[in-house]
Amino acid sequence: MLYIGVDLGTSAVKLLLMDEEGRIQNIVSREYPISFPHPGWSEQNPEDWFAETMTGLKELLQDADKSQVAGVSFGGQMHGLVILDEADAVIRPAILWNDGRTYEECDYLNNVIGKEKLSEYTANISFTGFTAPKLLWVKNKEPENFARIAKIMLPKDYIAYMLTGVHCTDVSDASGMLLFDVKNRCWSKEMCDICGVLPSQLAKVYESYESVGCLKPEIAGELGVPVTVKVAAGAGDNAAAAVGTGTVGDGRCNISLGTSGTIFISSRNFGVDKYNALHSFAHADGTYHLMGCMLSAASCNKWWMDDIVGTKDYGKEQEEICALGENHVYFLPYLMGERSPHNNPNARGTFVGMTMDTGRTEMTQAVLEGVAFALRDSLEVAKSLGIRIERTKICGGGAKSPLWRRIIANVMNLKVDILESEEGPAMGGAMLAAVACGAYASVEEIAEKLVHVVDTVEPEPEIAAKYEARYAQFKEIYPALKPVFEIITQ
Ligand code: XUL
Repeated sequence: MLYIGVDLGTSAVKLLLMDEEGRIQNIVSREYPISFPHPGWSEQNPEDWFAETMTGLKELLQDADKSQVAGVSFGGQMHGLVILDEADAVIRPAILWNDGRTYEECDYLNNVIGKEKLSEYTANISFTGFTAPKLLWVKNKEPENFARIAKIMLPKDYIAYMLTGVHCTDVSDASGMLLFDVKNRCWSKEMCDICGVLPSQLAKVYESYESVGCLKPEIAGELGVPVTVKVAAGAGDNAAAAVGTGTVGDGRCNISLGTSGTIFISSRNFGVDKYNALHSFAHADGTYHLMGCMLSAASCNKWWMDDIVGTKDYGKEQEEICALGENHVYFLPYLMGERSPHNNPNARGTFVGMTMDTGRTEMTQAVLEGVAFALRDSLEVAKSLGIRIERTKICGGGAKSPLWRRIIANVMNLKVDILESEEGPAMGGAMLAAVACGAYASVEEIAEKLVHVVDTVEPEPEIAAKYEARYAQFKEIYPALKPVFEIITQ
């Protein structure tokens, strides 16, 4: 049988077709626009996601035996607010995970309602990208839109709704809404009351590997696949990536270098860090995870290469970089503000430490290193909780760069396991579909059987020691510049 994974990303939807043994049959990617209507805001049209997903599905299945397709599932960009009216029309563009407009609403939630209460109800505090503060923003700034809301959904759940007609979500993605009681895996009545959300507006919650239903007959007909194709609830893209990289069960780690950068630590037990610097979310394998999320990771390198240096040949630019651990230039990768651990939408991207002999090689290196240092900030929080990690998987567009993988291994002092495929979320989506169809008994079982490590990048003690000293310097820069960021963003 064949299984489809749909990774609804920020720049594109990626679709993957996999057989029962995990062999990838085809991969297709379709881009859609993103708009930044004000500095720090970011929006997309859900209709674009669906149109490109359908076109992509047709392309994906062009040469496949369509009668063999058994299941579809998702990894989706998290936290985005999608609102539909009574007639199922999209009320306004989706407000995305990296949108920083809800500064005042977060202040209200964290400081008037209070972080302790939020953490007690949801296991998390408010970050600008989370869904609940966006609902409050719509309530405050667009009351006519708020009054029309019949259904609230997350990005991938809009696709599931269009494919099946079922208003559903899964535990991992629901965790990022700040409306969800993560520990008990159900909606939080208290948070819904605080945000003016009615139970009827919320989706039915499933475990990620559960089937929510079958394709609508007209969709199955349009795609030429059986009407019995099952749709599994799927997961937020980071939990889906964790499944796709075998980061399931207890104490495993995955780093994703996509538009965002995340460090994801799986855990059989529910846990929350004292300051809520890391997110505490449900995992797609039925357990829990902790996660640190930086808002701009591979997107910093893309910005630097495409928009500033003006090249598409990233590999060639990186060939010049050889003095690892010896760069005097630092880069703060806060091009969209920062989530973990600083929780500051006013933080900004910054180069520090240039001299007359600084060239573009040092600055390119600083961008790659800045992302690694910022991920290390989240790793340090995990360490402070007593979590000991020796190795990590890695996925996402940035993971294709051998140099960046080496920088990550040395800055974080972790062994970095390289997988046969770094198609994290799309692969994870297809694997969740296979579990929903009964091809495997559990997410742990399929991960065990299908995910293969092909190489490991080991930290090099001399370079890791140099980076240790550089990281100590990097850590001083954000606190020193924080007051400046407040002034320049007023
Ligand atoms: C996670 C987060 C991002 C998005 C990217 O909390 O906001 O990783 O899911 O798609």
